[in-house]
Amino acid sequence: MRKLFIAGNWKMNKTMASAKEFANVLKSNMMHDEVELAVIAPYTQLEILVSALYNRPVMVGAQNVFQETSGAYTGEISIEMLKEIDVDCCVIGHSERRQYFNETDEIVNKKLKLLLENDIRPIMCVGENLEVRKAGNAISHVKSQLEKGLMDINSDDVMNTTIAYEPIWAIGTGETASPEQAEEICSEIRNFLSEKYGEMVAEEVIIQYGGSVKPENAEEILRKPNIDGALIGGASLDVDMFMDIYDKAYFTKKH
Ligand code: 13P
Repeated sequence: MRKLFIAGNWKMNKTMASAKEFANVLKSNMMHDEVELAVIAPYTQLEILVSALYNRPVMVGAQNVFQETSGAYTGEISIEMLKEIDVDCCVIGHSERRQYFNETDEIVNKKLKLLLENDIRPIMCVGENLEVRKAGNAISHVKSQLEKGLMDINSDDVMNTTIAYEPIWAIGTGETASPEQAEEICSEIRNFLSEKYGEMVAEEVIIQYGGSVKPENAEEILRKPNIDGALIGGASLDVDMFMDIYDKAYFTKKH
């Protein structure tokens, strides 16, 4: 049985001081064994979060990693650097990185392999923009991202990979995909995995939805059978809202 997985992607927000404050409030909340929780923070806040959340069932994640292991790549962060901080997970292929930093599916695939080899859990983002959706190509677009992103990844590794479906038109816009729209693509993602790796493997993979998830809409989204959690941007910056979504995840029909 898949666990629910709620992750907050802070993007380029907060400071070391406010991250520590957030972690302290988070620690005082009740944790549910059945729901995994992660905070995905900017690099400078990772070490503070890892130490503040030490011995707590909260994962700390990075928002990116560079695809080469070392060398003349000014401004980048390597897998070894992330390992040294002891992060648990890492987002790759976020649409903002694809859009502003030309992250291609081939690069995402390289990053995925590095993370898996180094036991850092990858959260691989996929999702279409409005133009692609309007043209009726959302499913084929997402499948193509999966095909290339998961190139040469075996069954064991894919089971340790979280897939986040984040339609670009629903990110930061206040416009959420309807639970039905989100479920449709997430179930297509599972079908894709089933065809590639077999049903048993596909049933193990956690698939998150992301895009304007808030306390008000979280329950109906998380109740869908193929949606196993959420990747939350804006609403994850506020610890009360974030924990509200986490608690709501626990109380959905899956538990
Ligand atoms: P919002 O929740 O702000 O729409 O962001 C979603 C997202 O991009 C998470 O990675």
